[in-house]
Amino acid sequence: MNISVIGTGYVGLVSGACLAGSGNNVICVDIDEDKINSLKQGRVTFYEPGLEDIVRKNIKEGRLHFTTDLDYAVKNSLIVLIAVGTPPRDDGSADTGAVLNVARSIGESLEGYKVIVTKSTVPVGTTELIRDEIRKVTDIEFDVASNPEFLKEGAAVEDFMKPDRVLIGVENQSTGELLKELYAPFMRSMDRALVVSVRSSELAKYTANAMLATRISFMNEIANLCEVVGANISEVRLAIGSDDRIGRHFLFPGIGYGGSCFPKDVKALINTGSEYGSELFVCRAVDEVNTRQRELFWTKIHDYFNGELKGKKIAVWGISFKPKTDDIREAPSLYIIERLLSEGASVRVHDPVAMNNANFYFGDKVYYAESNYNACEGADALVINTEWNEYRQPDFNRIMQLMKGRVIFDGRNLYKPERLKDIGLKYFGVGIGN
Ligand SMILES: NC(=O)c1ccc[n+]([C@@H]2O[C@H](COP(=O)([O-])OP(=O)(O)OC[C@H]3O[C@@H](n4cnc5c(N)ncnc54)[C@H](O)[C@@H]3O)[C@@H](O)[C@H]2O)c1
Repeated sequence: MNISVIGTGYVGLVSGACLAGSGNNVICVDIDEDKINSLKQGRVTFYEPGLEDIVRKNIKEGRLHFTTDLDYAVKNSLIVLIAVGTPPRDDGSADTGAVLNVARSIGESLEGYKVIVTKSTVPVGTTELIRDEIRKVTDIEFDVASNPEFLKEGAAVEDFMKPDRVLIGVENQSTGELLKELYAPFMRSMDRALVVSVRSSELAKYTANAMLATRISFMNEIANLCEVVGANISEVRLAIGSDDRIGRHFLFPGIGYGGSCFPKDVKALINTGSEYGSELFVCRAVDEVNTRQRELFWTKIHDYFNGELKGKKIAVWGISFKPKTDDIREAPSLYIIERLLSEGASVRVHDPVAMNNANFYFGDKVYYAESNYNACEGADALVINTEWNEYRQPDFNRIMQLMKGRVIFDGRNLYKPERLKDIGLKYFGVGIGN
């Protein structure tokens, strides 16, 4: 099939590359010329394991093309996937401006029948607005569909290739059949396509993220209770996760969820509830607990130093919002680092892949360490924000030789408190009561 994908971010590029990989002819479009120029040379501008190889292979085999020319892309495709960003507005609602702009441009380019698919995460009713926007500028026949993406950054290619389900929201059966055919190569062992109404599809995406975020905030709240009642959240987690009705996923406590999806999607869902007069009390609490979680972690650092952070040197391991990605959007680490800086501490950061993005964000306000050990040199404390694999089994003797202080604040519970205590390190995790 001939497909165009508008927006070459995490979702658009992964979708475009993987769809090309299954034999389709794919044209990827972006307004960012630098990005398109890099992609034409097979260089992916963000970190996503395995993606660059697929991009290069499909460029070489002539199935994957990049352009800033949306008109050309639309004219040469049957299916157009919209995968541009839907960032939060100040009131928490999703900004669908880019999606609707793209819709208008698609409408202006229509010369024959197309299926226009919303892959971006959009509030209920947006796909109908896309239809209206296109209808304003053309009489040519087209269909719209909602096909939200469920991939996870850090495992995006794998998730796209082996989806748990492919959600397809349509207004008629033939559009559903066409999109099922598009995804058939990724569902060879069994049909995982769920064809539903457009509104259900749009809402299901937000519901999935809000449910996962709820599990995290719920566990963070219980972790805070553990600290005051003398229980250990790791033990509580194992105990409840072994119950099939609950399951093991998304039960890890920490310093709160971040990234470009959960925070904005929970807020956007709350906003949709308010807009329709159906308040989402649980979602509001999830959002509040999440904000509070990073503040509580910060308080541990602040109180340990009796508020005297001026002149202190702090090593920070992990900036990305989770491992295996360089995405630092809404990462809790940003809050922690900003608080440290605002209290006059000097900060030595390390992250295996997010240093460029950190540099873009903090400029020369922090020191960028070449290794996690280098970050510890002369540090009064070590703060861990992201559970990167390479931080799990460090050489503590080396850390102690390098650091001036003897304290670790671990926002991801990577270490055994007893072990660190035995070697003379003070340890603060999350949800570990005494
Ligand atoms: N990142 C994820 O893990 C993930 C997962 C599932 C769903 N989503 C959703 O998918 C959508 C895209 O997310 P993302 O993380 O890929 O975004 P992103 O910010 O990484 O990429 C968006 C891209 O769209 C481009 N763009 C913006 N306006 C454009 C226009 N008018 N024409 C062409 N290109 C344009 C930008 O230049 C950018 O390259 C969002 O709605 C997001 O909520 C994201």
